[in-house]
Amino acid sequence: SGFPSFLKNGLSKLGISSEILEFLFKWADGHEVNPKIPEAKGAFSAIRGEAFFIPLYELFLTYGGIFRLTFGPKSFLIVSDPSIAKHILRDNSKAYSKGILAEILEFVMGTGLIPADGEIWRVRRRAIVPALHQKYVAAMINLFGQATDRLCKKLDDAASDGEDVEMESLFSRLTLDIIGKAVFNYEFDSLTNDTGIVEAVYTVLREAEDRSVAPIPLWEIPIWKDISPRQKKVTAALKLINDILDDLIAICKRMVDEEELQFHEEYMNEHDPSILHFLLASGDDVSSKQLRDDLMTMLIAGHETSAAVLTWTFYLLSKEPSVVSKLQNEVDSVLGDRFPTIEDMKKLKYTTRVINESLRLYPQPPVLIRRSLENDKLGKYPIKRGEDIFISVWNLHRSPNHWDDADKFNPERWPLDGPNPNETNQNFSYLPFGGGPRKCVGDMFASFETVVAVAMLVRQFNFQMALGAPKVVMTTGATIHTTEGLKMTVTRRTKPPIMPILKEDASASISKGDTQ
Ligand code: HEM
Repeated sequence: SGFPSFLKNGLSKLGISSEILEFLFKWADGHEVNPKIPEAKGAFSAIRGEAFFIPLYELFLTYGGIFRLTFGPKSFLIVSDPSIAKHILRDNSKAYSKGILAEILEFVMGTGLIPADGEIWRVRRRAIVPALHQKYVAAMINLFGQATDRLCKKLDDAASDGEDVEMESLFSRLTLDIIGKAVFNYEFDSLTNDTGIVEAVYTVLREAEDRSVAPIPLWEIPIWKDISPRQKKVTAALKLINDILDDLIAICKRMVDEEELQFHEEYMNEHDPSILHFLLASGDDVSSKQLRDDLMTMLIAGHETSAAVLTWTFYLLSKEPSVVSKLQNEVDSVLGDRFPTIEDMKKLKYTTRVINESLRLYPQPPVLIRRSLENDKLGKYPIKRGEDIFISVWNLHRSPNHWDDADKFNPERWPLDGPNPNETNQNFSYLPFGGGPRKCVGDMFASFETVVAVAMLVRQFNFQMALGAPKVVMTTGATIHTTEGLKMTVTRRTKPPIMPILKEDASASISKGDTQ
């Protein structure tokens, strides 16, 4: 390593003094052999109360694409550089585990696909990915449409009554209804009912989020579980959900035993297209605990994320009426008054760009968590095993090095005739669904789900921030939430009647154009 000797000779022939050369080469060697990761010491006092990825953005601008953040005995590497992210997530992914994330989520996801590592992850990933095949995703478009239609009915009532609506909680219920049906054929019906099970799901979700931002892991104290009223509530909620999952698994097993369908690659039971049904029919050899962990993982993964995407999309749209008009034009011309189908997904190009851009500005989750399992090198810096790493997708997606006008919501930055942006064609500067072997298994599902919901909602209504609505401020759990909800006023769209374009009309307008 160090400066090659031919360079040294060359420079000395140019008449540069030997002292200066010695100094230069020592400096270069020192920096090449053991460069130290920049440290942002004690700079993190403002963490509480504010979404923690916000101060990380300022530190990224000061310290660069990788820096160390130390507070107390804890230390983290914060990565905001696309090539280092690519190295960790894709090129050397086997050297990294989920680390803290797995520790925090253990109580709810066990060894489900998101926290799992090593052999368990490999086996489960191989079993689950085939379940989300093309035919399954196509069938889901119908489900997205029906669930969104129920939300539309609710909004229509609110529009009649002149009542404002809190969209964040409605989106949360919409995506819960969808994912319950899609993953294990369960009707939460949370848009119309508040059942014990719905409340239990929210209790568990809030707990997972609180744990992920808690400074002290109180729940690790053995008797805490038994005396804290809150922990007792969490334990009861988990039991309720697990019992229901066990029932659903048993019911589904009976269905599979009785059916005559032959299992094949694009297997799907029309009456129950759920992922659970596919897994059981595939003869997947799995313990019921592991199956439950995987179902719970997909329930949470597919619920919070999609709800957050819809929430922030509608927030962004409320500030850009011109984007809404373009959206409505596209939706009117592609869908008219129909329910969307899989064929429409290719045609709703601008709607898709709106989702792409919303995912850039509000990535869910805003950081990815890893731990190094062996010594490695990140960029020019050697690192030891056992380092906790946050890859800030937020920083990657708003990096001034990569994006023009990075903070602007501008769906036009993605050309309509260009490829659908993803981590590969954006070289890890854009990774809405992660990348490498642990990339989201529900990316297609989620893209179509959010496109269908946005299309159907803007087709029927106009949305505005409600008068006197609380200011929209971000807070963090696993995904980005608002602090006080997204309060909006919904009004029915008054569409001009759809006029059939007749031949005569077309020629008339052309000749009119000619005379002008
Ligand atoms: C993983 C985002 C919807 C299931 C991931 C990861 C991201 C992500 C960024 C990578 C995590 C990491 O590398 O640490 C999203 C977003 C969604 C969404 C933004 C909605 C817009 C869904 C849905 C499902 C799902 C609907 C289920 C049907 C999963 C699973 C993993 C995962 C199982 C873990 C994969 C593995 O580790 O092998 N998701 N997701 N996601 N997602 Fe999604």
